[in-house]
Amino acid sequence: MKFCNKDISKASKNVSKYAQAEIVQSGDGSHTIFLPNLNETYHSTYGAIEESKHIFIDAGLKTIINSHEEINIFELGFGTGLNAFLTYFEGKNTKINYITVESNPLKESFYSKLNYHKIIDKDNSKEIFLKLHTSDWNRKVAFNENFTIKKINDKVQNIKLENNNFDLVYFDAFSPDLQPELWTEQVFRKIASAMKINGILLTYSAKGSVKRALKNAGFKVEGLPGPTGKREITRARRMV
Ligand SMILES: C[S@@+](CC[C@H](N)C(=O)[O-])C[C@H]1O[C@@H](n2cnc3c(N)ncnc32)[C@H](O)[C@@H]1O
Repeated sequence: MKFCNKDISKASKNVSKYAQAEIVQSGDGSHTIFLPNLNETYHSTYGAIEESKHIFIDAGLKTIINSHEEINIFELGFGTGLNAFLTYFEGKNTKINYITVESNPLKESFYSKLNYHKIIDKDNSKEIFLKLHTSDWNRKVAFNENFTIKKINDKVQNIKLENNNFDLVYFDAFSPDLQPELWTEQVFRKIASAMKINGILLTYSAKGSVKRALKNAGFKVEGLPGPTGKREITRARRMV
């Protein structure tokens, strides 16, 4: 679990561990996915929407939206699509190009039951949420003149990213205890190269080793107060 990772089994991390996924309700009423075999949730159990808004929207998107006519976003881990969904509505009057990578897309039997569109009850929110999931993988899809999304079905380690492209990165992998191979200087360097200078990366982890890896990869690292249940989150700016 992202904020409750006491008993994480590191024994096996293969795809079959997704097999017994279940939808659970987090503290703010919004759903998240629980993987019993890994004892891991996709979001904070204190509040999935609250966490996503706090970290990626408030500490990320909102801080640059007024100074950019167009924003290129990269997300590691599309998962439930919650970050993309919140970004779509928050960024409605700005041109947003959203690229996300996901190694294990959720099945329809899961995403169709998630309650985000009932809580963020805006115009067409159900339609938009479902479209985020049903739109083709591996090609850029335009929702309207402002919002495009390209969902890449692969591991982040395998993909090539354009240099100096992203203004904002949502680094939303599973926890560093569960996926140590992703929270490394090497992966952060790859992502840094794909970001513009001064681009911002957000993540829920404030672990010392994560901050050190980010610094070594050329980021200036800042700790910010976290959402409910989490003392600190990390915002990192590409400097070189
Ligand atoms: C903590 S969940 C968060 C997902 C999503 N941002 C959300 O709000 O639901 C992490 C996601 O990263 C995906 N993932 C794990 N390892 C990955 C990898 N190597 N490359 C791409 N995606 C990965 C998982 O399948 C999962 O959907």
